[in-house]
Amino acid sequence: MAPLAAVILAAGLSTRMRSKLTKVLHPLAGKEMLSYPIAAVKGCKASRLLVVRNPDQNDLGQYLRREGIREVVQKRALGTADAVQAAEPALSKFKGHVLIVCGDIPLVRSSDLSSFISAVRKAKAAMGIITIMLRDPAGYGRIVRDLDGKITRIVEEAEATPEEKNLREVNTGVYCVDSEWLFRSLKKVGRDNAKDEYYLTDLVGMALKDGVDVLGVPCERPENFLGINTRVDLARAAEIMRERINKRHMLGGVGILDFRHTEIEADVRIGADTKIMPCSFLLGKTRVGPGCIIENGVVLKDAAIGRDVHIKAHSVIENSRVADGATIGPFARIRPESRVGRKARVGNFVELKKCDLRDGAKANHLAYLGDASVGAKSNIGCGTITCNYDGAAKHRTVIGNGVFVGSDTQFIAPVRIGRGATIGAGSTITRDVPPDALALSRAEQRIVRRWTSRKKQLRKKRTSHRK
Ligand code: UD1
Ligand code: CA
Repeated sequence: MAPLAAVILAAGLSTRMRSKLTKVLHPLAGKEMLSYPIAAVKGCKASRLLVVRNPDQNDLGQYLRREGIREVVQKRALGTADAVQAAEPALSKFKGHVLIVCGDIPLVRSSDLSSFISAVRKAKAAMGIITIMLRDPAGYGRIVRDLDGKITRIVEEAEATPEEKNLREVNTGVYCVDSEWLFRSLKKVGRDNAKDEYYLTDLVGMALKDGVDVLGVPCERPENFLGINTRVDLARAAEIMRERINKRHMLGGVGILDFRHTEIEADVRIGADTKIMPCSFLLGKTRVGPGCIIENGVVLKDAAIGRDVHIKAHSVIENSRVADGATIGPFARIRPESRVGRKARVGNFVELKKCDLRDGAKANHLAYLGDASVGAKSNIGCGTITCNYDGAAKHRTVIGNGVFVGSDTQFIAPVRIGRGATIGAGSTITRDVPPDALALSRAEQRIVRRWTSRKKQLRKKRTSHRK
């Protein structure tokens, strides 16, 4: 088989996005838009992969370095033909087919590319193009065929006559071209057009003049080639991506009640028989075990959730772990670097931060537990606060196993509570508490008898005096 090189074009100015961020780095399902065509192209086993960027796209340069992908710099964004031309020095010794893919078609699939490449190889065509039929072809280059059905040229929207604008077969921006013919022909592309750009699509007309074959390979799945030029296109792509991801999970046994209103990012993994209610967001590298219930409005970001965990409505968990059988929420917030043990319970309006709540521990109502560890089976009463910050530094609260913390307790950290200790409600704990002890710091209660009625009498006397 002839070798294959791949070039992804990403050096455009992204003007239609109206954004400081390079277009192909805009996130889609939690990852850079460009990561999808890169993955699709990698699936085609190209012997080399190049991405073309322009010198001002430092963000893209950084991304490519991070991903270990070779870049080629197009000095000025003078059009798609010029962008491919910029890759010539890097491919000077290469002979074979060059797969060219626009970086702004994130829904492209490896399988579509592979069958396309095979078709071009089989036909021994100098150039192949994937085409699609669109009901609304606006914005795309139109495929012009002669009476025999042979492709004679591609006409861009800007130059198309009203008649040509009615053509519904369009160019997807995916090409597979013989390297020798490609680089020979690119030198002849001019910029005599409405945009004053070097159009890669002009190669088609040239092929006709050279008497070489251009193979149009129609694809039945037009949605896979949606080109992203504006934020409207991006939102449409996100919708298609959401449906794809959610279908994949549903076929894997995950119950998604409303798959249009459940956002699961590309790298999330979920076990079978987990149920997800509407308006939940499962983001980043989140992992959810089997048999969990995730109620509506839950946000999980880089969270690791065990099996049979119940996360009640409107809870937020970020960069934390929740072990098997735990119950969270409603309205709980678990901030980074926390861990909730097996069968532990975190109730409404409880906030954890860098908190290790061990197996079977409970904090059921209104609490802040930051920089703390809470031993197994300990019970944290309503309104408990770990006062972890003294205005300058953070300190830890360490609570042993089986501790009972009465409601409205404040722990002035650093402080340690021994196992089995009891803290009386309303206490402010400033010193360590030994195991098994009772600590109580609230003031003695006073009783003033008949205080209310005496006060009333006093008031009455004063008003009659004034009259
Ligand atoms: C292009 C095609 C059009 C096709 C459509 C499919 C041309 C002339 N037109 O139009 O026929 O239907 O894609 O989506 O090719 N780029 C560079 N350097 C440049 C200019 C662009 O690298 O100087 C890159 C862009 O970053 C982008 C890709 O090439 O990823 C396509 O450029 P874009 O301006 O989006 O072309 P379209 O107008 O969409
Ligand atoms: Ca485009």
